[in-house]
Amino acid sequence: MVVRFDEEFLKDPVCSYARLRAEGPVHRAEAPDGSPVWLVTGYEDVRAGLADLRLSLDKAHSTTGYRGLSLPASLDRNLLNMDAPDHPRLRRILGRAFTPRRVEALRPAVEEIARSLADAVGGDDLLAEFCVPLPIRVICELLGVPPADVTAFREWTDAVLVPADPARARSAMGSLYAFLTSLVAAKRESPGDDLLSVVADSLTADEMLSAAFLLLLAGYENVVHVLGNGLAELLSAGLTSSTVDELVRHASPLQLAIRRFPVHDVETGGTTIPAGETVMLAVASAHRDASVFPDADVFDPSRAENPHVGFGFGPHYCLGAPLARLEVEVGLAALFSRHPGLSLAVPYAELEWRSAFRSRSLRRLPVRL
Ligand code: HEM
Repeated sequence: MVVRFDEEFLKDPVCSYARLRAEGPVHRAEAPDGSPVWLVTGYEDVRAGLADLRLSLDKAHSTTGYRGLSLPASLDRNLLNMDAPDHPRLRRILGRAFTPRRVEALRPAVEEIARSLADAVGGDDLLAEFCVPLPIRVICELLGVPPADVTAFREWTDAVLVPADPARARSAMGSLYAFLTSLVAAKRESPGDDLLSVVADSLTADEMLSAAFLLLLAGYENVVHVLGNGLAELLSAGLTSSTVDELVRHASPLQLAIRRFPVHDVETGGTTIPAGETVMLAVASAHRDASVFPDADVFDPSRAENPHVGFGFGPHYCLGAPLARLEVEVGLAALFSRHPGLSLAVPYAELEWRSAFRSRSLRRLPVRL
């Protein structure tokens, strides 16, 4: 049977994936654009797939099927579209911006952002009032976006990432492209202490530009919705803290890792996947695999063993994971210390979700302070 990510499937992905895991580890499926993919749902196969160098991230190895997001050519050369030897070279350079020392140095700025947002929260929608602005302001810090440009930068980014209106998304993409191009030129001319400046010596202007876009794509939405989905979990359980790991395991919006293309025929979970076809690794399904996580469906903030793959695994392991952890930790601490009585304004079962092929997130998060 071919799996379809239709309304029925997406209404309750946890349940849909549980059904698939019970049937077997590898499934034929159809991406929303109608193209064929292979869907891998068991923990061991997902984890092995994430680290398998025979599964390429380079679209040049795709012969048929779903290829994912298409950016303008100059932006498409980024870490999540690359294999060795380019990938480790670029990753080493960008890694300089994410050392523990550099991430820790961002803590006071993240704390200040989180505190000021927590002070201003009204409660109508915690997602829009807190979870969305926090990571975008952190990315502005990271990239060295001048304070006067932060509002415009955020509007363009939102229009591109949540394209409610295609014409507006196209025009915002043009503005963002022009803005980042001149930001990169400015950092090359007179470096500051931000990420772009740190890598300016070692990268071309195009490489810097595509790196800046990657950080927006990879570092914004995921943080918004780990915070949003995570807060909904915490509040419904009457809790005020959790390890970041359990939030990422149980509540991460990310359903599927980046699409991968076998460079030659690859056997996984007893199925041979032909070279060039598309493999989707269902991270969210792996996280509910009861052979690895006892009581996998239970949100347990003090879970001891938690080998989740919510930040990936292997060579493409999330470069921003230390920063993501910092943002979620500091964000939740600031929110609950300012509003210790925080609670859901509607029952958990009545929250509205935006469920898509690759991500599941809340539309709004109404709370009482
Ligand atoms: C809680 C929030 C986050 C989650 C759940 C998350 C998750 C992931 C995952 C699963 C991957 C691997 C994708 C794959 O192999 O298919 C990844 C890669 C990546 N992430 Fe994150 N991420 C988060 C936050 C961030 C942040 C804040 C940044 C930076 C500002 C970031 C930057 C990156 C980059 C650059 C990569 C590509 C690494 C490579 O290809 O070598 N992420 N992330």
